[in-house]
Amino acid sequence: AAMVGRRIRSKRRWRKVVRVLEEMEESCSTSVGRLRQVVDAMAVEMHAGLASEGGSKLKMLLTFVDNLPNGSEKGMYYALDLGSTNFRVLRVQLGGQRSAIVGHNVDWQPIPQHLKTSTSEELFDFIVSSLKGFVERHDNVADVSQTKRRELGFTFSFPVKQTSILSGTLIHWTKGFAIEDMVGKDVSECLQQAMTKRGLDVRVVALLNDSVGTLALGHYHDEDTVAAVIIGTGSNACYVERADAIIKCQGLLTTSGCMVVNMEWGNFWSSHLPRTSYDIDLDADSNNPHEQGFEKMVSEMYLGEIVRRVILKMSQESEILGPISSKLSTPFVLRTPLMFAMHEDDSPDLREVLRILEESLEIPDVPLKVRKLFVKVCDVVTRRAARLVAAGIVGILKKIGRDGSGGITSGRIKGGSHSKMRRSVVAIEGSLYTSYGMFREYLNEAVTEILGEDVSPYVILKVMEDGSGVGAALLAAASHSASSVDMV
Ligand code: GLC
Repeated sequence: AAMVGRRIRSKRRWRKVVRVLEEMEESCSTSVGRLRQVVDAMAVEMHAGLASEGGSKLKMLLTFVDNLPNGSEKGMYYALDLGSTNFRVLRVQLGGQRSAIVGHNVDWQPIPQHLKTSTSEELFDFIVSSLKGFVERHDNVADVSQTKRRELGFTFSFPVKQTSILSGTLIHWTKGFAIEDMVGKDVSECLQQAMTKRGLDVRVVALLNDSVGTLALGHYHDEDTVAAVIIGTGSNACYVERADAIIKCQGLLTTSGCMVVNMEWGNFWSSHLPRTSYDIDLDADSNNPHEQGFEKMVSEMYLGEIVRRVILKMSQESEILGPISSKLSTPFVLRTPLMFAMHEDDSPDLREVLRILEESLEIPDVPLKVRKLFVKVCDVVTRRAARLVAAGIVGILKKIGRDGSGGITSGRIKGGSHSKMRRSVVAIEGSLYTSYGMFREYLNEAVTEILGEDVSPYVILKVMEDGSGVGAALLAAASHSASSVDMV
């Protein structure tokens, strides 16, 4: 009788765990119908954000980039890329011919956690000391004695209200950074001051978002590039907009008639987004509640944390994992790369999953059938993220008339009885897309699903490795050369 009782209890627990999964799966549903609603919502919000300041959760920020690199850029430029777990310093030698990025040195440095919440002075001191070391290592002595001008493109991947191509103030932080004294300050000036203080003779000539750098590199390689998407620690997109469509800035003067708009789509929100109780709790516990709602569902900073919350709920509901470990209750212990390692574990007995659960979450001896459920949780969270990003991308294409749906600003060029679609390239950077096959597959598949077989061959998603860094050097070069061409 005792054994029967145990078996019944165990069955009941199992059923509870399965129910948690099923409920979660249901609220994460991204049917193609739902995705199309997200596409429409994205396009509508883009219009609203362009119509008036604060008209939408999408900030639709001006970048003052009205010409994109075309391959003729020449010279040596530095780039500083700040905006995620690491920051990078680059030195890029441009050869003046498309695809001739001759020399390219990179230095990676993790940003010490405490600096993300300290003061702007401390952060910039740290950055500039690395930059100085880098410049000294890579510029030979002869160069330095010639007092040659060194120019730098600064990729600062947070919402910035730009006042020109080389200046702008920080609107607020995202991605866990919280340096209060920096908000409202001119970002380039902070960097310039810190460089001057350390006697580093470098001039900031371009200030840009990582998405804009990626668009620049994309356009450098392929002039059909119309948008760029970042899916890394955070998520964002930018695209080429007609200046006259930026209603909130009437009379905007541009040389090309266009301007790159930084959408800050991490803050996109729509009631059509498939939101779960885990997302709501994650948001409430974050240091920026009600902000970056889309980012919290799709980017690397948060995906592992959503999965941890589901596993925690499963253990609370069912006691299937025994007492809840303190690790499992600790926010952000299940980092996204670990979550992906679980997701991509193709060993029949899910050995990697077992190891990660034991080592990172301190839950030992999880039975195989429960491990399988956890992998399913990883899959649901990853798939939802990838498909939502796909919908976002199609939303942009729709806004600029390149989704094949026709309409007033149709991207079709009339050609006899058959109208011809224009090729549209979207440059993508960020670890989720570049390093995780499953995520990439889900995203590509969803783009095709939403656009349909006829249109999707005209939409090309291209990985732009290092776009945020190399793109900064390209825009630094473009910012004072008249060689760039019109964008569309
Ligand atoms: C966050 C930032 C945005 C950046 C993105 C990707 O969303 O606000 O500026 O582009 O992360 O790094």
